Parts: sequence; C-alpha cells; structure tokens
Amino acid sequence: MRRVLMATAALALMWGMAGALAAPSGAELYRVYCSQCHGLQGNGKGINVHDMSVQPRDHTDAKYMAGRSDDELRTAIVEGGQALSKSVLMPPWGKVLSESEVDALVRHLRELCGCRYGQP
Ligand code: HEC
Repeated sequence: MRRVLMATAALALMWGMAGALAAPSGAELYRVYCSQCHGLQGNGKGINVHDMSVQPRDHTDAKYMAGRSDDELRTAIVEGGQALSKSVLMPPWGKVLSESEVDALVRHLRELCGCRYGQP
C-alpha cells in the first residue's frame, strides 16, 4: 500500500514537472527570451540597450501597444522586427518558440501594457 502511494506521489510529481516544462508562463518566457533587451519590467531597458542603435520597444507603453493588434505582435515575435519594417535588432523567434508559447507571450505583453488593441 505504502509503495503504491509513493509511486502515485512520484507520478504526480513527474506530471507536475512535465506540465511546468511543457507550458512555461508568458512571464517566464519573457524573462528568459526577452528581458535582456526589453527589461525585466518590460520597459525597454534591458542590459543590452547601451550598445543598441535602435532601442527596444517599451512594452509598458499602453498608448503605443494599443496601436498594435495581437496579430501584429505575434508577427513581430515570430518573424522579427523586419516583418513590420522595424529594426532587425528585434530577432525572429519562430524557430525557437512554439505557437502556444507565442500566444502566452502576446497575453503577457497585454498584461505589461494593461491595454488591448484600440484601448490604451
Ligand atoms: C536582442 C534584443 C531583443 C530581444 C532579445 C527581443 N527584442 Fe523585441 N525588440 C527589440 C528592438 C530593438 C525592438 C524595436 C524595433 C524597432 O522599433 O524598430 C523590439 C520590438 C519589439 C516589439 C514591437 C514591434 C513593434 O510593433 O514596434 C515587440 C512586440 C517585441 N519586440 C517583442 C519581443 C518579445 C516577445 C521578445 C522575446 C521573445 C523580444 N521582443 C526579444 C529587441 C529585442
């Protein structure tokens, strides 16, 4: 009985870990992939910015971010800045991130700005 319980607990733990690995939150993804340029707070002041000729977008700027649709944000992430006639310094992430990770990031961007498309 005890052994069964232990096995169940171990399984539950593994499931939990697999879940965490399979679906990191938008905030975690942002911290890992975006914060070095866009800053931990999303304000565009990451540690890389001193050497960059074009400054990363301030994702807390509700006025600007409300001017971008979710699709445009997705395109910027997947295809990089160039896809929106923006700087190549914004890298394309399409080969690194899954579709659901990109969706999670778009949701996180909306949290950072506290805005929606057309609603600053
Ligand atoms: C190497 C630095 C760098 C990294 C890493 C980076 N970005 Fe950017 N990003 C930029 C720069 C620079 C711009 C501004 C481009 C411009 O205004 O021409 C930008 C712009 C953007 C924009 C705005 C595009 C627009 O409409 O103006 C979005 C959205 C964005 N980044 C999302 C992300 C996300 C999400 C991540 C992480 C997956 C990320 N970026 C990682 C440098 C970076």
